[in-house]
Amino acid sequence: MDTAKRLEGIGEYYFSKKLREIEELNRAGKNIISLGIGSPDQPPHPEVIRILHEESSKPTTHAYQSYKGSPVLRKAMAAWYKEWYQVELNPELEILPLAGSKEGIMHICMTYINPGDLVLIPDPGYPTYQSAAKLAGAHVMAYQLKEEYGWLPDFSELKTMLKTKRNDQEWILMFVNYPQMPTGQLPSRKLFENLVMFAKENQVLLIHDNPYSFILNEEPMSILQAAGLSEHVIELNSLSKSHNMAGWRVGMMLSTSRHIENVLRFKSNMDSGMFLPVQLAAARALSLPDTWYEAVNKLYRSRKMIVEEILEGMGCEFSKKQAGLFVWAKVPAGISDGYALSDLLLYNANVFVTPGGIFGHAGKNYIRISLCAPEEKIRESFDRIKKAGFIKPKQHV
Ligand SMILES: Cc1ncc(COP(=O)(O)O)c(C=O)c1O
Repeated sequence: MDTAKRLEGIGEYYFSKKLREIEELNRAGKNIISLGIGSPDQPPHPEVIRILHEESSKPTTHAYQSYKGSPVLRKAMAAWYKEWYQVELNPELEILPLAGSKEGIMHICMTYINPGDLVLIPDPGYPTYQSAAKLAGAHVMAYQLKEEYGWLPDFSELKTMLKTKRNDQEWILMFVNYPQMPTGQLPSRKLFENLVMFAKENQVLLIHDNPYSFILNEEPMSILQAAGLSEHVIELNSLSKSHNMAGWRVGMMLSTSRHIENVLRFKSNMDSGMFLPVQLAAARALSLPDTWYEAVNKLYRSRKMIVEEILEGMGCEFSKKQAGLFVWAKVPAGISDGYALSDLLLYNANVFVTPGGIFGHAGKNYIRISLCAPEEKIRESFDRIKKAGFIKPKQHV
């Protein structure tokens, strides 16, 4: 039986395919070190695990849960936004717990996109924006982020795109994400203000995807700080990266009560709530003090230093001011693109790094190295890459 038309042009997720290839290489004895995916390798705080244990041993916590999440979790999310982003949200009306930010991306697309609607996605950017929008039937257009503009959107280019491609009356969706994945570019308040102004002037609904604001970033920011609550902005956030809870699937959507209600209309037809012990443990995670974030970042900082040594050794150019779980770097002269460098490292050094081209055409000449591997594995990657001849000897002057 043929698959539905909506799956046309939607391939299997790159990592799902690549991880199978890596498994095959491992079965053939290659022992690949993967510096590919951004899945934190450390556990959540012990208190979070304790609550999961405690709550799941009670006989009363196993039933279906409310579609809009436990009030305990929604209140914890509101308190987290107030403490860290100085944004006041009504936990009853303006917050929707999600099974991760990825789930929110799909739900928002299914809630707001009609077949043929224009959706703007960043290039380079998280591939799910494109696939979720396409699954919902959108006409997807990529707006370029360029290194020479500091990986920020070019508003005049965006306006030209809108003028030529849209019907006057329709609203369009636009995905943005700062700290940006994969480039690691940090946001500024000015950027968020400009984005919101652009959205208001052009009938755009901005979806700001914000899962990296606590990683290697001194000042976590929310687009809601710049905008307040507005019909033009939805923010998504997540505990996957900030709390080492990627496999737990806990995220959130923050917006006006109207957007929350609309998305809930879709979501409540998709799932039947989240396991209560997970929600209660996630609430505890959100109340952790700043020492938690400091400890998480200390680890990433020391790993990042070794990744930077690898990149410098290979002659890749990169910015040292990147936030998030990765380092994004340009391939050195002499190597055709990121796919070629990724394959060279995979087949000659048994180290996997992500080719930048999977994040869009603008990422073609880059690679992305993940910090989600133990320091000794990153150090071993350095040694393997050196042994394979890709680390140039240091020039002594
Ligand atoms: C930019 C971006 N958004 C969203 C996600 C997914 O996050 P979650 O685990 O909350 O679904 C990722 C994960 O890699 C990401 O890089």
